[in-house]
Amino acid sequence: MTILITGGAGFIGSHFVRRMINQGKRVAVLDKLTYAGNLENLKDIIEDPKMSQQFKFYKGDIGNQEFVEHIFVEENIDTIANFAAESHVDRSIRSASNFIDTDMKGVFVLLEASRRFSLKKFIQISTDEVYGTAHQGAFKETDALNPSNPYSASKAGGDRLAYAYWVTYKLPIIITRASNNYGTNQHPEKFIPLFITNALEDKKLPLYGDGRQIRDWIHVEDHCAGIDFIMNHGQDGEVYNIGGGNERYNIDTAHLILDELKKPRSLIEHVKDREGHDRRYALDCSKLMLLGWKPRIKFENGLSDTIHWYRNNQVWWKRIKNGEFMEYYNKQYSHRFADTDVQQTH
Ligand code: NAD
Ligand code: DAU
Repeated sequence: MTILITGGAGFIGSHFVRRMINQGKRVAVLDKLTYAGNLENLKDIIEDPKMSQQFKFYKGDIGNQEFVEHIFVEENIDTIANFAAESHVDRSIRSASNFIDTDMKGVFVLLEASRRFSLKKFIQISTDEVYGTAHQGAFKETDALNPSNPYSASKAGGDRLAYAYWVTYKLPIIITRASNNYGTNQHPEKFIPLFITNALEDKKLPLYGDGRQIRDWIHVEDHCAGIDFIMNHGQDGEVYNIGGGNERYNIDTAHLILDELKKPRSLIEHVKDREGHDRRYALDCSKLMLLGWKPRIKFENGLSDTIHWYRNNQVWWKRIKNGEFMEYYNKQYSHRFADTDVQQTH
């Protein structure tokens, strides 16, 4: 039997692939290799004679029904962990079409195939963003969804569609909603790796608005351990929050990065805010904790290790930070730097 890990060439998916391989499982990866997919993330597995025996890579779209069914037959799939997604909020604000195709329609195709092939387990990797801004307290799994950007709305669509397949067809679905991940191999479009790599290049760090938005950071290894735990101990038809318990203001995280790299705080530039920017994400994780799991990695330690990795793996991110990425970066940031709407307060 094989676990199908979609989006396994991306940031979190590749860490989860490694975890499953290390446990001796057979893994098939289906990944479209969009701008965010990177086979370098799986290089150690592909090049290792033993690990590569447990691993098969399929380049393709989760929305391609014929191809998905072909993999089910070929690999005798019994479990899916669906990480495949368009994942960057800023890109969804620029253009949402791919988000609808992958994060909603793609999930539909996987669910339909799973129904036809009587799958044992379907883990839908959702996100804390589906709840929207946490004005006070922390969201429980039973709280209403109130997504506020095209990315989170499309993820909410996938999340609820998966749930509907449990209620309607008793497809054994579990939905996880994690907070912001950080760690090695994260694409440099995201906040932490963008700030680390810009600082390493002595470039400005574009901090949106006043920088007093709050994110709850979870290390990617903790997130993967949480999903693994839920796969084994969670109940079908249930939703589980996976938070890091590390709420931080963005500006404080930026300061930690600069201080660790011994770079001046003056590299931070407050720029025009993200449209519809969620002010705070916060999760109540008591449901998962009562089952017996909690994250282990302290933010300051995990961040320091992450910074160390980016400092020592400049080939990895410099290969990404050119071509398509620089085109995107210029479109996303040139007017923001020019059009600052916040006082420089630090
Ligand atoms: P990522 O962008 O690094 O990776 C996404 C992967 O999916 C890439 O390898 C990409 O090539 C692949 N992909 C995209 N469209 C595809 C398609 N149509 N068919 C097949 N493959 C496709 O994303 P990530 O940060 O690793 O996030 C993984 C999952 O976790 C996503 O579902 C995301 O919504 C969710 N999530 C992310 C975070 C976070 O902080 N990064 C937090 C909570 C949940
Ligand atoms: O909360 C989970 C979500 O976390 C995941 O579902 C998403 O896939 C993932 O991308 C992430 O979304 P965010 O929008 O929170 O992450 P991002 O790294 O884009 O931004 C983190 C915070 O930093 C957010 O408040 C916006 C801010 N930011 C981001 C960028 C890219 C900046 O201030 N400047 C920037 O240049």
